[in-house]
Amino acid sequence: MNVLILGSGGRESSFAWKIAQSPLLSQLYIAPGNPGTMEYGQNINIAVDNFEALGQLCISKNITLVLIGPELPLVKGIVDYFRNTPTLSHISMIGPDQSGAILEGSKDFSKQFMQKYGIPTAAYKTFDINSLETGLKYLENATPPYVLKADGLAAGKGVIITSDLAEAKSTLKEMISELKFGDASQKVVIEQFLSGIELSVFVLSDGKNYIILPEAKDYKRIGNGDTGPNTGGMGAISPVPFATKEFLKKVEQKIIAPTINGLKKEKIDYRGFIFFGLINVENEPWVIEYNCRMGDPETEAVIPRIKSDFLEILNQIKNQNLHLVNIEFEDFCATTLMLVAQGYPNDYPKGDKIDNLDKITDVLCFQAGTTLDKQANLVTNGGRVIAITAMDVSIKNALIKANNAAKLIEWKGKNYRTDIGYEFI
Ligand code: AMP
Ligand code: GLY
Repeated sequence: MNVLILGSGGRESSFAWKIAQSPLLSQLYIAPGNPGTMEYGQNINIAVDNFEALGQLCISKNITLVLIGPELPLVKGIVDYFRNTPTLSHISMIGPDQSGAILEGSKDFSKQFMQKYGIPTAAYKTFDINSLETGLKYLENATPPYVLKADGLAAGKGVIITSDLAEAKSTLKEMISELKFGDASQKVVIEQFLSGIELSVFVLSDGKNYIILPEAKDYKRIGNGDTGPNTGGMGAISPVPFATKEFLKKVEQKIIAPTINGLKKEKIDYRGFIFFGLINVENEPWVIEYNCRMGDPETEAVIPRIKSDFLEILNQIKNQNLHLVNIEFEDFCATTLMLVAQGYPNDYPKGDKIDNLDKITDVLCFQAGTTLDKQANLVTNGGRVIAITAMDVSIKNALIKANNAAKLIEWKGKNYRTDIGYEFI
């Protein structure tokens, strides 16, 4: 079969690496992809939200399965577009339609959904321009730290946490009346602060059945010791040592199963990944957020831990046969380090020449923000440049391998965290 992967980050590189190994694959296309994905398939320079051009590509290349990496095309309705276009409706889309993607596209919706189905999540209230004054009073009576979340997609920046009441109030005003995060902050969710350790759990759903993928822990802050601004994620480990069988059982019973049942009750035909951003509070799992896609860099640690043919699994979604799948995992630990450009997550330069990738042997290098310059040199082209994943029997050994590779790869201003997984070794 011919497959198209949408996206160009480390997540999509790891999908491409895995799918390229499937005996079911004839030809793999990645749109737009990056120089790294060219090793696994053919890059096609079409933007992930150019639905018409992607549809035409699928017809001309006889593509029958599309795996959507990022949330943007999902929230914009790529799955609805394909389902409602007669020449495209036969294509299996791995990702939810708009009615499902709203789990990530609207924090207010996801909070209402969790409350309705009894899924543990922080207490909250939503405010907009009509209730701004009430919101400010609500903050005065709330217990710090205050957690303010833009309702819509805000490129990972829409969450503000502060213990300073004056700052919380001015932020609420800026979000709602000055649209600090654009239309995404027309509505703002204010929620109770939860204290604990976070982890990400991933589920693949066919609308009826689901399978649980390996869990991972992401390291969001830019600096060692979890300091500095939030990023998309600076590294990941899988498995997560504190996610014991008992804990994961609670996650399934209290969170995953009620979510899948809730989606069915809401008549949301959810065919794709659900990313549960969880927090472990005194050994009880709570939901911090849902995403309608896999995480990045978590995917780069999770995918190598899947032993089974991933394409064969994805191929069961169209006929809602995930219950027939017996997914097998590798026993080893996977650790991922994200190498980023100097300045990320704020402004950063592009076009710096990357050296020594050819010297890397015993780890996987998933390219993300890279491109080829006019002389065909590999150069940086984004804040998140390369994800390195190392595998070994212990987290410690995997981290040593990953750190050695991270040291060897070079460009001007390369930055990465040297303490990923620190609390587990
Ligand atoms: P989100 O974009 O919803 O994942 O939020 C970004 C980060 O903010 C999360 O990964 C948490 O570290 C933190 N966060 C969000 N909600 C809460 C909460 N209710 N309590 C504590 N931390 C939170
Ligand atoms: N690593 C967090 C995310 O993908 O949202």
